[in-house]
Amino acid sequence: MLPENGRPVEELLAELAAARRADLPTQGGRTTAYVYDSGREDVRQAARAAYLEMLEVNGLDPTAFPSIVHLERQVVGAVASRLGGSAATPGIFTSGGTESIILAVKAARDARPEITDPEIIVPTTAHAAFHKAGHYLGVRVKSVPVDADTFRADPAAMISAITPSTVLVVVSAPSYAHGVIDPVAEIAASAADRGVPCHVDACVGGWLLPWLGVPVRPFDLSVPGVTSLSVDLHKFGYAPKGASVLLFADDALRRAAYFACADWPGYTVINSTVQSSKGAGPLAGAWATLQALGASGYASLGQDAYAATRALIAGVSTIPDLHVLGEPDATLVALGSSTVDLFVVADEARARGFFIQPQLSYAGLPASLHLTLTGVSLGAVDAMLAVLRESVEAARLRGPVAAPPELLGMLSSLDFSTMDDAAFAALLPAVGVDFSGGQPEMATVNAVLDALPPKVREVILIRFLSALYSPYLS
Ligand SMILES: Cc1ncc(COP(=O)(O)O)c(C=O)c1O
Repeated sequence: MLPENGRPVEELLAELAAARRADLPTQGGRTTAYVYDSGREDVRQAARAAYLEMLEVNGLDPTAFPSIVHLERQVVGAVASRLGGSAATPGIFTSGGTESIILAVKAARDARPEITDPEIIVPTTAHAAFHKAGHYLGVRVKSVPVDADTFRADPAAMISAITPSTVLVVVSAPSYAHGVIDPVAEIAASAADRGVPCHVDACVGGWLLPWLGVPVRPFDLSVPGVTSLSVDLHKFGYAPKGASVLLFADDALRRAAYFACADWPGYTVINSTVQSSKGAGPLAGAWATLQALGASGYASLGQDAYAATRALIAGVSTIPDLHVLGEPDATLVALGSSTVDLFVVADEARARGFFIQPQLSYAGLPASLHLTLTGVSLGAVDAMLAVLRESVEAARLRGPVAAPPELLGMLSSLDFSTMDDAAFAALLPAVGVDFSGGQPEMATVNAVLDALPPKVREVILIRFLSALYSPYLS
């Protein structure tokens, strides 16, 4: 409720602190998705101070606030120079991976106005943001199966999926779900031979791979045929959220990502991003983080993250019920099992203070547990392995959680379009979702979702989100 009279700042901060008590920890390496902790208080302070300095600046108009051009040029130039480009490489600072990807798809679509039914080709492991881009932009998304053993895109299958409507081919470096780098060079070169541009989704890995301290498969703008690349600074750039960079091989493609509108009587609109008015805090926070860490800071974090990953992989090989899927190229690891219920393992790990992300089966790829290891994970990896071992043991004792067939039948046959949020919320206890006692166990929910086709999952997830933001689930 809006208070009648303003409240004192101490009271507001106390309420925020109380509200955050149920949140996952953002520091310390026990949350192995969502957050990227540099472990460096000096770096956090630099980011915070710069963010606050630019808090009130509006990124809408770079002629009104030239400071944003100054910062964006520096950020884009610094990132491009390490990713096969130079200080002159055209780029756009965006709010995150999804916005970078939407703009990459828009640029590819608008660069080929003669194609009236545009499509993009993605491997099945490509991030969901490409499906979102297709949905928002009216571009068809053609998903091509990946190699079932390596989880990497299959170059021959990707290239043979190209048609005269194809405006873009997509590869990941690495993919989020399995942490493997697609055969970028092969796919980009073959696409270029057919006149099709290639986007590298390096959102998660672009600012990690150069700092691992080991040779990596080629993935950046120097690879012939690569026409755009997205790299998030709010992931392995360790910057505050709201920070990504989209790089282009040429400035005509960058212009195709831009939007201008003179079709109304107000101020002239020229946008480089989806957002129009926007805070300059994230740009300043990313700039300050890059400057405060420097190349040596990133190299040290990258090497620690890599050492933590090798330690995790070695440790997992001694847990008989778990195995690593594929051969991770970076510090993202997917764990599989043919003997224990991974969704139960995730709940057990969470009860022991570690958040490990469940991933549903999809397109013939098995369900898995995801871990992203960062610089601070090196200090947490022994505890992580101990928790994994205990959680697997507990899951073995508990046995698998089955999705009740009658519930699946009911969910598949329900007409969700006639059900309001209150009725949907009332259904949730049937799958064990009860928020009254804090975080509910998710194994049953995940088992149910896993057993349903992706389109039904999507309908249910949207209903869940709507119910979550309604007053019915508290
Ligand atoms: C490979 C990849 N692409 C895109 C994204 C989307 O990024 P964001 O959540 O910043 O929109 C992610 C996020 O994890 C990712 O890992």
